[in-house]
Amino acid sequence: MGTEQSIERTTASQITAKKASAKIVCLTAYDYPSALVCDAAGVDLVLVGDSLGNVVHGEATTLRVTMDDMLYHTRIVDRALKRAMLVGDMPFLSFSLGETEAVRNAGKFVACGAQGVKLEWQPGIERVVKAIADAGIPVMGHLGLTPQAIHRIGGYKVQGRDAAQAELMLREAGRIERAGAFAIVLELVPAELARRVTEAVKIPTIGIGAGPHTDGQILVFHDMLGLVPGKKLKHVKRYLDGFEAMAKAVGEYAREVREGGFPGSEHGFS
Ligand code: KIV
Repeated sequence: MGTEQSIERTTASQITAKKASAKIVCLTAYDYPSALVCDAAGVDLVLVGDSLGNVVHGEATTLRVTMDDMLYHTRIVDRALKRAMLVGDMPFLSFSLGETEAVRNAGKFVACGAQGVKLEWQPGIERVVKAIADAGIPVMGHLGLTPQAIHRIGGYKVQGRDAAQAELMLREAGRIERAGAFAIVLELVPAELARRVTEAVKIPTIGIGAGPHTDGQILVFHDMLGLVPGKKLKHVKRYLDGFEAMAKAVGEYAREVREGGFPGSEHGFS
């Protein structure tokens, strides 16, 4: 566990303070090389997201991701980060069975090197946020599309389009802030509503599919690097066609092995 490293890392209070001064750059990472890339590129906050269920495990939802999965990946990412803040995503049902259980599980993330945890919204979430924050563990809220509630929501769709939903989101953002969260993720929220939430709270908002007015942005590592082929999500900008690039390189290796081009004499030992 990288306790010495974490002293040098960006802290939750530094992330909160950036609301007034700079856009906050966040990205997910799940393993050693992806976390090394985030740190080297100057990302402020790395989230070990339960989206690993989708992009690492190949599942259709995040619902089968367990605490053990999340702790395993958090421990690995911890070894790579020197300056970015490390936040662990609390998986489905790990914070829904009462405050005591939630604090115990949040503590397990800290024991693996996380400096904070993220919780998706559910009714009464402010009590859980407060219990974890009071235990000394920084908490990020998560409003808008909350994939752990996919069966209630009924699909991966934009949230807060009608007035009642929008008012609820504004109210819940205030509650999460007052409960002691240091930041709030807004996922798949209309840009204008994201702007209203951002102006209504003193803690930073981190958007994903929430337009340009949030205090920071987060994307899923594999999505922005095009590592998983398939339908392109509207809110994602692909900075690389990683799948194509890797498949091309692996294809070249396969061809050279078959044709005798690899290994060359420079790759062997006399
Ligand atoms: O699990 C995840 O990667 C997330 C981000 C998309 C915010 O929750």
